[in-house]
Amino acid sequence: MPAGPDIILTLKVLVAAVTLLLLASLVALAAGKPRLHGRLNAAFFVLTMLTVAGFEALLQFVDVKSAFDPAAREALRVHLYFAVPSAIILPAMFLSGWAGWKRLHLALSVVFSALWAGTFVTGVFFLPHG
Ligand code: HEM
Repeated sequence: MPAGPDIILTLKVLVAAVTLLLLASLVALAAGKPRLHGRLNAAFFVLTMLTVAGFEALLQFVDVKSAFDPAAREALRVHLYFAVPSAIILPAMFLSGWAGWKRLHLALSVVFSALWAGTFVTGVFFLPHG
């Protein structure tokens, strides 16, 4: 069974990697390539959902109390306050973009961007892995 710090380090790498995809998709959008934006975000969508599902599944097998100290548990809890709502909105982001519901897509993108910023900061900077 992987140790707590290993789990957290893996989570950080995955959060950073999918965030790069999201940023690349926004660059594609700014460069006038909405199709590329859609493709990059299809990858972002699948990888993020796999990360969340994999992490949740892993937590079922790990004894959370012994794997993480109280500070790490608290940091994880705060991280999940952002990550779980992000994952809930993500299918709606994908659907609204894919279906061309531009107003809805843009409205959701404001909420999603705020939640993802929280997911990134709490995931990459505040989770202790040392
Ligand atoms: C976070 C900020 C985001 C902004 C500002 C944004 C904005 C946009 C805009 C302006 C379009 C073009 C709409 C049109 O011309 O009809 C678009 C298309 C699209 N977006 Fe986003 N988006 C964001 C995030 C996402 C995310 C997270 C996903 C998926 C999970 C996504 C999936 C798509 C898809 C699939 C399309 C259609 C691409 C195509 O035409 O083939 N977007 N987005």
